[in-house]
This record gives sequence, structure tokens and C-alpha cells, in this order.
Amino acid sequence: MSENDAHSTDERRAASGHSLGRCLLTGATGEIGSYCVRKLNRMGIRPTVVLRRPLAKEAWQGAQVDIVEADLAMIAASPRGLLECPTSAELTPSAADSDQRARTQREALSSALARTDTVFHLAARVNLAGRGREHMEQLNLRGTIALFDLACQAKVKRFLHVSTTGAVGCASTPEALNEEAHYNLEKFRNPYFITKRLAEETILAHWRKSDRATDLVVVNPPIVIGPQGSFRRTSRPRRRPLPRPGSFWLRCLRFWWPGGLNIVDVRDVSEGILLAATRGAAGRRYILGGDDVSVRELMERAHDIFGTGRPSIRMPIPLLKAAARGTRVWEALGGGRSRFTPSFARLLGYYWYYDSTRARTELGYASRPLEETLRDVREWWKREASGT
Ligand SMILES: NC(=O)c1ccc[n+]([C@@H]2O[C@H](COP(=O)([O-])OP(=O)(O)OC[C@H]3O[C@@H](n4cnc5c(N)ncnc54)[C@H](OP(=O)(O)O)[C@@H]3O)[C@@H](O)[C@H]2O)c1
Repeated sequence: MSENDAHSTDERRAASGHSLGRCLLTGATGEIGSYCVRKLNRMGIRPTVVLRRPLAKEAWQGAQVDIVEADLAMIAASPRGLLECPTSAELTPSAADSDQRARTQREALSSALARTDTVFHLAARVNLAGRGREHMEQLNLRGTIALFDLACQAKVKRFLHVSTTGAVGCASTPEALNEEAHYNLEKFRNPYFITKRLAEETILAHWRKSDRATDLVVVNPPIVIGPQGSFRRTSRPRRRPLPRPGSFWLRCLRFWWPGGLNIVDVRDVSEGILLAATRGAAGRRYILGGDDVSVRELMERAHDIFGTGRPSIRMPIPLLKAAARGTRVWEALGGGRSRFTPSFARLLGYYWYYDSTRARTELGYASRPLEETLRDVREWWKREASGT
């Protein structure tokens, strides 16, 4: 979709459904949030963004935002209401300091919410490797509940919660699941899935019991890729340079394994998020998917587009799981952190295919072919690798 098409879509959207009005975003600096901010700016909306730490002015790349400082994990960790005082026994200097900071931030967030019509909640810790459980409980689960609670108190009109297909389910055969699928991911004991699923369930249950003054709409994207645009990373130098497409190490990647994924473009997901905020029905969830693709097909496309090896070696899942267990030994010996953890390896061999018919018919959502996304990623990657 060209920028001109994007403009006309934005104008059409503004003319139908819930009017976005004054917007507040969490996770605005992240991969998906940064695209949402740019789209809102193109619609003439200057959103308020919730930041847990300051960001250099140039890192915003000209995006127009107002800032409210609040660490959602810290706010959720502070159990007291605004008027409740801690006991003197609890008042160690550091606890008192962080308690005071959490109160100040909660007050700032509440007053920003009082001036908000639509909340886009994207902040989360995203990690499939099974690390950071406590932080995920704090941010993905308690932080989401606390924010939704504050938004309801402030009578925000609409709360758009960005969940994940990791809160929907997966299959052992290549069938595409929709929003009504039976949730079957408990067996993986993956903290990211657990906290995202619980957060979604809890706020939906809360909404059903509430006076419904605040509409709640949920979206569930699958794996999101695309040219990276996050605001925060622009100021940070890359630790290791990216390999050039077709380089020796990439050509060594000749593996595939059973199973498949649904992959969507970040530009389509951010568009879908805005569509759901304007046209989505309250209390409803929408899968914002892209193309279903088997791991083998994906590796074939990677070969054509990124110059990885042709996928000729079928890796048995038990062997991959054993290799993931081996990374623990590697870590214990000081070999550095691996993302290929046993927790991650447990997810291999399944089909994470999704059906976005509801979003397409009810929201007018559309996703571009995976081929186009991969080609755009390649162009972005080449620029990054050459430092231009
Ligand atoms: N990426 C995917 O493939 C994918 C797939 C499905 C669903 N999702 C969902 O989409 C949403 C956005 O994902 P993403 O990939 O854009 O995430 P991301 O790039 O990792 O960004 C996470 C965002 O959350 C903010 N954040 C982290 N801790 C915070 C805290 N304590 N208080 C306030 N803000 C905090 C980060 O701010 P800093 O700049 O301070 O770090 C950042 O803006 C998430 O809810 C995720 O679960 C993502």
C-alpha cells in the first residue's frame, strides 16, 4: 500500500465508526506502536504516549506526541489506592521512594486518561524463550489490568487491547484457527502466552460486569515482521552488525522442520489496530493475521529472498528439543545467552495458522502477501547492513 493509499484509508476511517478523538498509547516506542503513532499523526492526531523512561528528541524522527511518564509495571506493583498511606514498617527509604514515584506516575496517568477518548494498549514484554516471567506478570498481566481499571474510572470511551494469537491456540494439523478456538496452550507453560491470555480474559470479564461506559475491543496478531521502525532503537548502536543477504553464514542455514506459522506485516497490523479501534464491536476479539506458511515453505522463500541455504535437511523435533536443552549447558559454561531455549523448542512442530475472516468482514482489514513483506524487509536489511 502506498502512502497515498494510506492517507485515503485514514480519511475514510475518520468518517465512519467510533471517532478516535484524543488518543493515548502505551508501547508507542515499540515495533508496532511506532507505526501506530505515525498513522495517527497522518490522521492529524497528536497522541499522548506513556513512556517508562525518557527518549531523546531526535529518536522520535519528527513524530508528534505528548508524553506522560509512567512505568506500568511499577504502577501495577504498588498495591495501594491513591489515598491509602503505607505503614511506617514499610517505609524503608527505597520502598518509600518507589512507592512515591508509583503514586506520582499513577496520578499523572489518571489525569492524562481523564483527557482521553481512546486508549491503545500495546506495552508488553514480548519473549517466547520463557525468560522474564516476573516482569511479564507485572507488566503484561497486572499492568494491563491496572491500566484498564484506571481507564474505566476515567470514563475513557474506548480501550483497544493488543493481545496475541498466543492467547488463541494452536493445532497439530495444518488447520487455521479463528477467535472461537478452544484454548489449548496451557501445556507449553510459556509465561508470555499465560500472561497475555490471562490479561485478555480478566479485562474482558471485568468489562462484561462493568457499566460498559468504556468499550473494550481486543486484537490478536500472530508473528509480526516488517521493516523495523521502532523509535527507541534509532539512538542505540547495533551490538553486532547484520550479516549481508547471501553471506556465508546465511547460506549454512539449510534446515526445516514440521509445522507452520502465520506471519503478518507490521504495517498491516498497525492499520488493523486503528480499524478495530474505530469499527470493532465492544467485547469482541479480532485476529489480525497474514499468510499461513509451513516452516519448509518459509525457508524456501528465505532462500530466494535473503540468500539462505536451500532447505534440504529435515530436522526431527526431538533432535531440536535435545539441542535446546544443550544450550543450557552452553550457558552454564559461560557461552552466552541463547534464545533457542527448551521453552521455545516446545512450541516447534505445531501449526500456528489463523483465520482473519472476522477482521476482514467486520473491520475491512486486509493484509499484503508475505512475499511483499519479505522483499521490503530485505531492502531494509540491506540498508542496515551497509549502514546507510
Ligand atoms: N511483535 C510481535 O510479533 C507481536 C505478535 C503478537 C502480539 N504482539 C503484541 O503487540 C504489542 C506490541 O508488541 P511490539 O512487538 O511492538 O513490542 P516491543 O517492540 O517489544 O515494544 C514494547 C513496548 O512496551 C513498552 N514497555 C515495556 N515495559 C514497559 C513498562 N514497564 N511501562 C510502560 N511501557 C513499557 C516499551 O517501551 P521502551 O521503549 O521503554 O522499551 C515498548 O514501547 C504487545 O502487546 C505484544 O504482546 C506482538
